[in-house]
Amino acid sequence: MSKILVNVALPYANGPIHLGHVAGAYLNSDIFVRFQRMHGNEVMFVSGSDEHGTPATLAADRLNISPKEIADRYHKEHAEAFRNLDIIFDIYTRTTYPEHRDTVAEFFLDFNSKGLLSEHTMVAPFCPKDNRFMPDRYIEGKCPNCGFEPARGDQCDNCGKILDPQELISPKCVLCGTAPEFRETKHMFFRLDLFQDRLIQWLEGKEFWRHSVLAFTRNFIKAGLRERPITRDIEWGVPVPLEGYEHKRIYVWFEALLGYISGAKVLSERLGKKDYWKEFYFDRDVKMYHFMGKDNIIFHTIIWPAMLMGRGEYNLPYIVVANEFLTFNGQQFSKSRGIGYSVDEILKLASKDYVRYYMSSIMPESSDTDFNIEDFQSRVNGELIDKFGNYIHRLTSFIANNNLAISSFEARPDETDRHALEFARERISSYNDFLEKVEIKKALGEWLELVKFANSYFNSAQPWRLVKTDVSQCVSKLYHSLVLAQYSTALLYPFVPGASARIMEIIGSSKYQEKGFTADLLSQEGSEFKPAKGEPPFQKLALIKENPNFADLRIGEIMEAREHPDADKLYVLKVNLGTNEIQLVAGLRKHYTADELVGRKIVVIANLKPTKLRGEVSQGMLLAADDGEKVSLLAPLDGKLRAGDPVKIGEYGFNNSGKIELDKLKALELRMEASLSGTVATAILDGRRVEILAGEAQVTSHRPVKEGAQIR
Ligand code: 2FM
Ligand code: ZN
Repeated sequence: MSKILVNVALPYANGPIHLGHVAGAYLNSDIFVRFQRMHGNEVMFVSGSDEHGTPATLAADRLNISPKEIADRYHKEHAEAFRNLDIIFDIYTRTTYPEHRDTVAEFFLDFNSKGLLSEHTMVAPFCPKDNRFMPDRYIEGKCPNCGFEPARGDQCDNCGKILDPQELISPKCVLCGTAPEFRETKHMFFRLDLFQDRLIQWLEGKEFWRHSVLAFTRNFIKAGLRERPITRDIEWGVPVPLEGYEHKRIYVWFEALLGYISGAKVLSERLGKKDYWKEFYFDRDVKMYHFMGKDNIIFHTIIWPAMLMGRGEYNLPYIVVANEFLTFNGQQFSKSRGIGYSVDEILKLASKDYVRYYMSSIMPESSDTDFNIEDFQSRVNGELIDKFGNYIHRLTSFIANNNLAISSFEARPDETDRHALEFARERISSYNDFLEKVEIKKALGEWLELVKFANSYFNSAQPWRLVKTDVSQCVSKLYHSLVLAQYSTALLYPFVPGASARIMEIIGSSKYQEKGFTADLLSQEGSEFKPAKGEPPFQKLALIKENPNFADLRIGEIMEAREHPDADKLYVLKVNLGTNEIQLVAGLRKHYTADELVGRKIVVIANLKPTKLRGEVSQGMLLAADDGEKVSLLAPLDGKLRAGDPVKIGEYGFNNSGKIELDKLKALELRMEASLSGTVATAILDGRRVEILAGEAQVTSHRPVKEGAQIR
């Protein structure tokens, strides 16, 4: 038995967890941990919320709430989403915990006393309009490396290059659009340059890493390591324990990495074993695994090991596992752009077992892979249910229907059975090798081979004939079929834990009932079964109907209304959409004063391609009814709704298909119609006229308009 530390990148707590995250690091790490625990190893499994950093302040600044409110909300949501998918961490920590602040201070002061930090005056973007220094992420422009626009001031999302905002071509402040000035300010730097040789040495012998991770890291080092600023002119973050730095904070990456250690400390406290974490960080036999998406590589293969080397005594990462990206119908997952499913959304359509199965089978391990809803259905139904579920059901119901008692004492293996067990042993052994190397898809492939084999073993044994001619031979064949069922269920467990537990009960595995999921289930010795008569273990995944709703309708709240400088009919509005704020240009000056608009809850189409109206950007459209005389904004009948809440057309929520052109909206034929609750908004979808629904109720207009009024 050995100890294994599994650290998974702490996701930013500033937006929903989607399937792109799940495929990137969280599902594969959970599978790996379950596999290791089955084999008796002691695992510490750590992740949590990365609460600081500009992603959270950006969202907060746009919504006019505190970053802590954003982090609180998403921390809770993320922890729940992972639990709902059976991704169970030992601790889901937070970087706002006092233990975290203390750990960061300890590292910082230690580095400072050892000469691993230096102070320099640097030039940073300062927005003259907002009158403050702007974090790198608040500056956007064109990537000097690949030309992508908008690239962020810290990293290009397209080519992954780490950037300095000064390198951007035509940089702008994201809050107000002003070109930043670059002003002088003092900061502390981490002497990464001092670690160049040690890092190169450490990477020798890491040939078992994925080639792309190793090559990327080596190239980065070869280009020469430079010292890196680790403090920032911001207010949200971990304080810098240094005089004169009261108004600065530690750079988010420098502290978030330490969340692995502070998280392990918090866990140890909770377990009542204060020093437990030390066993994982200081005992040289412990292997430290890191899981993350490919955009996080160099932080974990260069900066993190350098920090651990700098502090001394700490174990270094054993392996850094970085997945590629998951796409959704060929596009990059992005909830802010409305592309792909969040965990919550997909769990409304399919059970966690099915989601875990499909995601495992398309894990983007060596290249980007695509999530596709038809493929989802056909993999689950064709493999998990038709091949595996049916096998279990045919086998156990045959035994029950014939009232057979199956015992190992009556099993007399013939040549075919010995070959079957040998085949299974080979599959199990390659499965183990693959999972040991975190090759999820290949391990699942071995499972599927075994399941197919079990089917053909059962079919050629023809127990329905043997039961009439040679009962003892029949029992022997059924016993071996049950052994194959136990093996395949045990192999499936790390991938699909919920259903595997259910199936172990169905086959009545005595070892499972005694000890739960252990590697012991993968040996024949001592395996006994009392199968139960029952329903098939799975229900088919019904065709998830192509959702025709291409319009991302949401409740918005008008935060600000100003007159368009160049058009006397138009307002320029700032509208809060819950997770972000957008600007809309609307022709309402004849019908509303600015005061009548501010604070109003409205219905917005949030996925229109942005356009410019007389020089002002409009990132969506608000819905208003117009009967030729009166114009009224649409308003939800349900008063409890909050900005960002989704609005459905009939039973259809938005289908996550991305941005659309204004023309496309014509197809919806939006119109006010009479109903029991008065005149309400309707649309044509799927060939039917259906009501527009927000929360528990319809959408109406707050000023009365005539039936048949057009919505535009
Ligand atoms: O990319 C991200 O979501 C980062 N928050 C990952 C941080 S990993 C580590 F530092 F915790
Ligand atoms: Zn780029």
